[in-house]
Amino acid sequence: MKIVILGCGGFVGSHLLDKLLANDQNEIIGWDPDRRKIEKHLLNKRLTLHERYVDDPETQDDLRQAVANSDVVINLAAICNPAEYNTNPVSVIRSNLFDVYPVVQLCVEYKRWLISFSTSEVYGRTLASYVTDETYDDPALYELNEDSTPLVMGPISNQRWTYACAKQMVERLVYAHHKEDGLPFTIVRPLNFFGPRMDYIAHRPSDGIPRVLACFMGALLHRQPMQLVDGGTALRTVVSIYEAVDAVCRMLERPEQCNGQIFNIGNRANEVSMATLADKMRKTYARITSDPSYLTHPIVDVTARNFYGAGYEDCDRRMPNTDKARDILGWQPKIALDDILYDTMLSFHEEFGVKRQQPVTLAGE
Ligand code: UGA
Repeated sequence: MKIVILGCGGFVGSHLLDKLLANDQNEIIGWDPDRRKIEKHLLNKRLTLHERYVDDPETQDDLRQAVANSDVVINLAAICNPAEYNTNPVSVIRSNLFDVYPVVQLCVEYKRWLISFSTSEVYGRTLASYVTDETYDDPALYELNEDSTPLVMGPISNQRWTYACAKQMVERLVYAHHKEDGLPFTIVRPLNFFGPRMDYIAHRPSDGIPRVLACFMGALLHRQPMQLVDGGTALRTVVSIYEAVDAVCRMLERPEQCNGQIFNIGNRANEVSMATLADKMRKTYARITSDPSYLTHPIVDVTARNFYGAGYEDCDRRMPNTDKARDILGWQPKIALDDILYDTMLSFHEEFGVKRQQPVTLAGE
């Protein structure tokens, strides 16, 4: 297949390249200004990398030509770090919505299949969190179904929702072009993919705040307390990046069945509160390092306002219904959370653990 991948140098893109380039029938033209996570593929003749942002004016002719000659366009380019949604909202809206618009237009013009990476955040908060004070008695009030669950977000002043809104707008745009112009599309809603190369380890406050896995990992590496936002009661389901990428490959094998479909890609069996995640991670790191002191590594509470600043509001729970992925893709994730954590944390340990940094001041302190 001829595959265009926008944002091919990020966490998901790097794993997708590992898998797609292993098949010598695939040719990939990728865009990403950052090559660090995909260095090992740069000499592969079946990968052409444009080290630019998608909206770079210099690259528009190449992009048009690549889309025109492709079988499928996969858009992974995004700012998807919650710490930025309320602190950098204009850039979040611009990169996740307006920068994507020309790509959607090109796919419409050339009738090319667009696999658009969206987010589980389009669901917003669960209905349960509004009507039953988060007791979650009724699955209809919390389970996330691709084609029937309402999308519920907080007020405009809670800028956490800038990202979710921008992504939802792209979904609606893609869907509208599908209906009006016959654009072939598939939307992927990822639910907390974890694995090696996720985000980055912050070494100083100016590095910003990555997602929770990298935050907790960084705290362990720097021997700083792990910080639990608002008591760590938020729930997430974690799926292995390897299984997530496998789901995308199964989509690529089924263009007709996947046309017009939205897929939750997550693992229902791996639901965990952030408080439990912190505890599991310190125990896992004690195993990896054979250092029992990590078993009691400090975990402290911090308010969302102190950690993320004003305008942060959390998604309370994300329990995906994944029946559609099972039925259409034959996909059922199996890798357990403990195994995902061990594999992921070992890779971070091998990269950073040997050269521990001096203690630093973390966000929220
Ligand atoms: C993010 C993105 O917004 C989603 O688009 C994306 O789909 C999702 O990650 C993902 O990885 O799939 P979220 O799960 O809220 O969403 O991101 P995290 O930053 O990983 O936060 C998860 C939870 O951990 C939140 O409750 C957060 O407050 C908490 N947290 C984070 C801590 O308790 N401590 C930390 O140090 C960092």
